[in-house]
Amino acid sequence: MKILVTGGAGFIGSAVIRLAVSRGLSVINLDALTYAASLENVASVAASPLYAFEHADIRDREALDRIFNAHHPDAVMHLAAESHVDRSIDGPSDFIETNITGTFNLLEAARKYWAGKGRPEHFRFHHISTDEVFGSLPADPSVKFIEETRYDPRSPYSASKAAADHLVRAWHETYGLPVVLSNCSNNYGPYHFPEKLIPLMIIKALAGEPLPVYGDGSNVRDWLYVEDHADALLTVLQRGETGRSYNIGGNSERTNLELVTALCAVLDELRPTGKPHAKLISFVKDRPGHDARYAIDASRIAGELGWEPSVSLDEGLRRTVRWYLKHESWWRPLLARDGAGVRLGTKV
Ligand SMILES: NC(=O)c1ccc[n+]([C@@H]2O[C@H](COP(=O)([O-])OP(=O)(O)OC[C@H]3O[C@@H](n4cnc5c(N)ncnc54)[C@H](O)[C@@H]3O)[C@@H](O)[C@H]2O)c1
Repeated sequence: MKILVTGGAGFIGSAVIRLAVSRGLSVINLDALTYAASLENVASVAASPLYAFEHADIRDREALDRIFNAHHPDAVMHLAAESHVDRSIDGPSDFIETNITGTFNLLEAARKYWAGKGRPEHFRFHHISTDEVFGSLPADPSVKFIEETRYDPRSPYSASKAAADHLVRAWHETYGLPVVLSNCSNNYGPYHFPEKLIPLMIIKALAGEPLPVYGDGSNVRDWLYVEDHADALLTVLQRGETGRSYNIGGNSERTNLELVTALCAVLDELRPTGKPHAKLISFVKDRPGHDARYAIDASRIAGELGWEPSVSLDEGLRRTVRWYLKHESWWRPLLARDGAGVRLGTKV
C-alpha cells in the first residue's frame, strides 16, 4: 500500500510515517515545511526505499495534481494543517486558507486522480481531525463526545477543522469519494513542537522559569500518546468503513493543573533540583473562549475495529519527559522560530 501523507514533517504526521514505514508501507510525505515542521522528525526513515518527500503546499492545486500523477498513491492521510489554537486567535487567515481551502484543493486533486483511475473502491481519503469540532462539554463525567455529537466549534482553529470535516463528508456523499474521518483528543509525546502545553512546560521547567497555566487550570483535556494515535490512524485507514468517522481518545481526562503537576512530579524524579518543580506553576490570564472540557467516547473504534490505547498517561508522560531530556538538540533550535515560547492568542 502506498500512502500520501500530508503534514508528515509535523508532530502526528511524522509519527504516522515512522510507524507506516516500520510496517512495510510506502509513504510519500507532502509538506510545506511551515514553522511547525522539522524534517528531523522523519530522519529515521528518510533513507528508506519506502519513503519519499515532496516539498509542496496544499494550497497549490497544480503541485497536488503533479504529485498524485507522479506517485500513484492508494490512499491519502490528510494531516497538514495550521494546528495551534492560540495562533488562530491572533491570525485566523492562514487557518482558513490551509485548513479549509487547502482541504478543498486536496479533495479535488484526489477526486480527479481517483476518477482517472476508474474510481477504485479500495482508494481511501482519510481526514485527520480533532475533538475540538464538538465544542465544550459540561463537567459531568458521564457526558462525552460521540461521533454524532453536534458540531459546535468555538475557536478559529476548530471552526476551520469543522469546515474541512464537512467538505470531506460532502465529497463522499456527492461524488462518492471513499473517505474515512477520525476526530482525536489532545496528543502528546516525542517531536511535539515546543509551543504546545506539555513540551512548553517541560522546557520551561528545565530552565527554572514560571510554568504558565491558563486561567485557574481547571480546563479538562483527554490525553493520548502520539504513537497510539498513529496506530489508531492506520487502523482506521486500513479497516474503517467508508463514509464513517471514528472518535479516538486516551481515556485519560485531566485538568490542565493536574497534568502540569504530574509532569512536575516526573521531572522531580528524573531531573531533581532540590526544589519541587510544581513551585514554578503560575496562573496567567485565560485564553479567550477557552473550552472547559473535552472528553472522547472511543467505544466505536474499540468495538468495531478493536483499537484501544496501549500507553497510560503516567507511562506516556515519563517517556515524553525522558525524550525531551535526551533531545535538547532537537527542540533548542525550534525555540528561535517565529512565535515559539512567547504568549500568543491574546489579540482579541
Ligand atoms: N496535536 C493534536 O493534539 C491533535 C489532535 C487531534 C487532531 N489533530 C490534527 O492532526 C493534524 C496534525 O496535527 P499536528 O499536531 O501534527 O500538527 P503540526 O502543526 O505539528 O504539523 C502540521 C504539519 O502540516 C504542515 N503544513 C501546514 N500547512 C501546510 C500547507 N498549507 N501545505 C502543506 N503542509 C502544511 C506543516 O509544515 C507541519 O509539518 C492536524 O490536522 C490537526 O488538526 C491534532
